[in-house]
Amino acid sequence: MKEYSSDRTLKFTESVIREMTRICLKHQGVNLAQGFPDFPAPMEIKEAAIKAIRADFNQYAITWGAVKLRQAIADKFAWYNGVPIDPEKEITVCCGSTEAMISSLLAIVNSGEEVIVFEPFYENYGPDTILCGAKPRFITLHEPDWYFDEKELAQAFNNKTKAIIINNPNNPTGKVFSREELQFIADLCLKWGVLALTDEIYEHILYEGAKHISLASLPGMRDQTITINSISKTYSLTGWRVGWAIASAHLTASIRKVHDFLTVGAPHPLQEAAVTALRIDQSYYQTLAKQYQERRNFFLHVLEDVGFRVYRPDGAYYIMTDVGHLGFPDDVAFAFYLVEKIGVATVPGSSFYSVPSLGATKIRFCFPKKMETLQQAAEKLKKLKTAGKK
Ligand SMILES: Cc1ncc(COP(=O)(O)O)c(C=O)c1O
Repeated sequence: MKEYSSDRTLKFTESVIREMTRICLKHQGVNLAQGFPDFPAPMEIKEAAIKAIRADFNQYAITWGAVKLRQAIADKFAWYNGVPIDPEKEITVCCGSTEAMISSLLAIVNSGEEVIVFEPFYENYGPDTILCGAKPRFITLHEPDWYFDEKELAQAFNNKTKAIIINNPNNPTGKVFSREELQFIADLCLKWGVLALTDEIYEHILYEGAKHISLASLPGMRDQTITINSISKTYSLTGWRVGWAIASAHLTASIRKVHDFLTVGAPHPLQEAAVTALRIDQSYYQTLAKQYQERRNFFLHVLEDVGFRVYRPDGAYYIMTDVGHLGFPDDVAFAFYLVEKIGVATVPGSSFYSVPSLGATKIRFCFPKKMETLQQAAEKLKKLKTAGKK
């Protein structure tokens, strides 16, 4: 049969994370695979969306984002991240950080150029690099605390390197990059003229005093960084699809062109409501982090109790685990066993690695769930204690 699919689509598979959600629905399990909350978003933000629709913000917004939203993004980036920006020229509002990342990569990368990615990585970055024709270079984040080898990173930079992707706080590991680590990366970017794309969507989900530092705030990095973010995780609004890329005016001009022809714009009434989100009382962020810390502590205990080896996250809302000692053939077999027989959906570790065998003993849990959902999952997981090993 003639192959109609493009060569580029043959180089990657469907998202395993989203597939696990569909399998979970089939088995009516508890979904701890895909990272989205099962608790309500803040009422005042929802009311703002209803008001925006009633006020007829129902046609296209300005392609690169509603004026009020760009102003709110700039204000928040100044107070939280410490970087003043021009909302007229340095922000592109996109359909989630997912679109912000791919639009940015398409805007800067030429076919064959290299993009450095820390591994394990958020699943999307694999296809993202393929779609923009980049050659990914993976740098290992080493267990147990997910450090990177400075020498290995330094050696990865060369004349073909166009960009480095940093997800901080990190999914799936929960790593929060320290100032020293970021400075080391910044120095290499400055030395080689390499752009940094930083996905900071978990910037407010931090534990035990961990601090979020934006790479763009380090000396010299403001104009060499594309900072990507969205309302998805901070305000529990993953379905709204409102995100953005912050970059120098020159880079923003390119990002806006790609964004315009990919999606035209993010949903206008939800952009209007996102202004309310970004201007929410600052105490909201402390409460958010505190509630996630309670969930994290509870679920770490649950997992350890039933026999998982856990990696304690310092940020984001995932727990990476090692299950090599549990006797299953690999991570995929174990993930299917968990969803089909135990009733808990997870993500097999291999989906976060360039070579599946690297993640063959890992399973990722997410915990942005009501305590009662986590308790249900805990009850189900207890069956692991009595079930025979595979
Ligand atoms: C690191 C990371 N980046 C981006 C996304 C997707 O974000 P958005 O909903 O803004 O597209 C996720 C979702 O899980 C994520 O974990």
